[in-house]
Amino acid sequence: MRAITVRDRAAGVGGLTLTDMPYPHAAENDVIVRVHAAGFTPGELDWPATWSDRAGRDRTPSIPGHELSGVVVELGYGTTGLTVGQRVFGLTDWARNGSLAEYAAVEARNLAPLAADIDHSVAAALPISGLTAWQGLFDHAHLTTGQTVLIHGAAGGVGSIAVQLARETGAHVIGTGRADDRDVALGLGAQTFLDLDADDLRHVGEVDVVFDVIGGDILERSTELVRPGGTLVTIAMPPTVQPKDGRAVFFVVEPDRARLADLAQRVRAGRLTPIVGDVRPLAETASAFGRHRRTPGKTIIQVADDQAARPS
Ligand SMILES: NC(=O)c1ccc[n+]([C@@H]2O[C@H](COP(=O)([O-])OP(=O)(O)OC[C@H]3O[C@@H](n4cnc5c(N)ncnc54)[C@H](OP(=O)(O)O)[C@@H]3O)[C@@H](O)[C@H]2O)c1
Repeated sequence: MRAITVRDRAAGVGGLTLTDMPYPHAAENDVIVRVHAAGFTPGELDWPATWSDRAGRDRTPSIPGHELSGVVVELGYGTTGLTVGQRVFGLTDWARNGSLAEYAAVEARNLAPLAADIDHSVAAALPISGLTAWQGLFDHAHLTTGQTVLIHGAAGGVGSIAVQLARETGAHVIGTGRADDRDVALGLGAQTFLDLDADDLRHVGEVDVVFDVIGGDILERSTELVRPGGTLVTIAMPPTVQPKDGRAVFFVVEPDRARLADLAQRVRAGRLTPIVGDVRPLAETASAFGRHRRTPGKTIIQVADDQAARPS
């Protein structure tokens, strides 16, 4: 099957190569998904799991990409809950071959059924961004109605979903990003927008929750904005500074089939709109990784839109 692989960590994005790889093996409780659309996360080439398995052994050539939408073509031994021919979307394991391939082996519990009226390219933009936004805002920061939340990178993959979820829950939303992101962030529901290159973060005042996707200096300066009892949640890096009278939490998104189904239902109901910034074919993955910056929302790799059969 055709897949994008990486072999050399030092090569960075330039090392993403279209390769012929073996059809994946369906282990216990896996399904094999014929991938129609795949998503990747900027920065995943720096994650240890891209290069090593759970025992720390080299697993190159590895297939990156951890979000997919497609159709089940095979069930592993003992797999229940999904059927061959079913449309599904979800996450692949960090330390196994991923979604930038024609076929992917995925634990069935990491996938949710996908209704026929949601495009694969839209569904592939949801799993990591949607679950990360939900878990950050509600599981870790416990955001509630009437609170104020500062969402960094509000036009990006995670931020654009976080803005919509926070607004729907009745929070006051301050979005940040670059000057070009203003219209997107305000259009998604942010009430205020800060250009991080030009505006002073201190003008925000105190907030109940900071949702950080950037890290570094922005993360550090944002800790001062957390109101006593409030929370800074970051997905970028473990924080080195804690808010004076609050909490700072770094987390890695976890699969959650029920929440995926809920997010898809919100999309169907018109309550949530994943921003698909760019759609590129599999062969253009390397340039899509490189071009991703400056494109609002999520870049999606279209792998297949046909009913191609399993290769012999
Ligand atoms: N811990 C987890 O579970 C988890 C889950 C998902 C993602 N992540 C990580 O979280 C980060 C964000 O993911 P994403 O998918 O939302 O990425 P994304 O789509 O690139 O969104 C990030 C947004 O922040 C903006 N931004 C970044 N640095 C900025 C700066 N200094 N000033 C102003 N704006 C800035 C980006 O604008 P530009 O494109 O113009 O820079 C972009 O709009 C990535 O590092 C990713 O690896 C972690």
